[in-house]
Amino acid sequence: MKVVYNSMIIFVKEDYEAMSKKAANMVAGQVNLKSNSVLGLATGSTPEGMYRELVELYKDDRIDFAEVTTFNLDEYYELPIENDQSYAYYMNKNFFSQVNISSENIHVPNGISDDVAGVCEAYDRLIERNNNIDLQILGIGNNGHIGFNEPDVKFEAGTHLVQLDEDTIEANARFFKSVDDVPRKAISMGIRNIMHTKKIILIANGANKASILKEMLFGPVTPNIPASVIQLHNDVTIILDKEAAKYVLEELKMRGVIQ
Ligand code: GLP
Repeated sequence: MKVVYNSMIIFVKEDYEAMSKKAANMVAGQVNLKSNSVLGLATGSTPEGMYRELVELYKDDRIDFAEVTTFNLDEYYELPIENDQSYAYYMNKNFFSQVNISSENIHVPNGISDDVAGVCEAYDRLIERNNNIDLQILGIGNNGHIGFNEPDVKFEAGTHLVQLDEDTIEANARFFKSVDDVPRKAISMGIRNIMHTKKIILIANGANKASILKEMLFGPVTPNIPASVIQLHNDVTIILDKEAAKYVLEELKMRGVIQ
């Protein structure tokens, strides 16, 4: 199912696999149209299936990453990249090591530098020098965060050091041995970087994302729900599975957008 609401395109797919395939096909479309595309990449459990599909497309010779440049949204602060919970590790394992992307074109914020301000500043400059991101993949946190832009974020911020919310620390504890091992800080692209991207694809699955997605789409644009800012972006595609779309579909019915 495809719905256009408030100039955003919303796809509702049968399940996680179909959501992942749709997202991967859209990334492939972007790269096939522009071989030197700059991709903004996300981590978390949501995009794992999309990366799997992209690897399959690559093996089938249907996508070529030779000229692609990537910028990841975020990285934990002071977590060594060898740690299997670092986002650099995740990206290598799930994607980079399995496709023909050149290592000098891969960018993940450096979370272990003494000069955090310098790292953030350099990340912003590098994105600008690459003429900004063509296609940004986003997931969404239970509290409405995108990247690690937590509620009450400053919309004008570029890449910056973030204090993680208790909600986020608890949500991400499932990946660590205990909640105490979850880093308390992260480096994240800011809302300004995300809003300067040319195209956004936000993906979400599962019932636990259903209510935040309704707020993101139909609530006010507010720093309390950082993802709500995408209502102001002019090229947004949202790909959901049925469970995540539950309240969004109810609201679209109520507003007469769908039957
Ligand atoms: C993480 C990441 C986000 C991600 C979100 C949702 O903490 N920083 O980029 O979108 O939280 O994660 P998941 O996909 O595992 O639900």
